[in-house]
Amino acid sequence: MADAQQLIASSSELANGGKGVRFTVPWQGEQAAAFAVRHQGVVHAYLNRCRHVPTELDWQDGRFFDSSGLYLICSLHGALYRPDSGLCVAGPCTGRSLQQLRTEECDGHVYYLPDSAP
Ligand code: FES
Repeated sequence: MADAQQLIASSSELANGGKGVRFTVPWQGEQAAAFAVRHQGVVHAYLNRCRHVPTELDWQDGRFFDSSGLYLICSLHGALYRPDSGLCVAGPCTGRSLQQLRTEECDGHVYYLPDSAP
């Protein structure tokens, strides 16, 4: 694992299609909101910044999935993103992608690997 890895959650906090975990990352000289969710057993993390208008996605703290549990949804205008890639598949920013962050799950914990930042 990278030296500067950042613990963001215990594995048990992230259920498939369930509540996400919010955290912050250094990004382009400032602290930026980010989140991690689990989809089909795999943890995915992104900057918490919609590609339509740069606002946070969650309509309630940590609620990133739509009612189907299959897509991430932006609370403002309803853009739907694939949880495995961050690609917007419906809504005003279709075809654009959330900024993906690299994570690693190890020994029951989930880490953000900061070397994925520019
Ligand atoms: S701000 Fe996210 S869909 Fe408009």
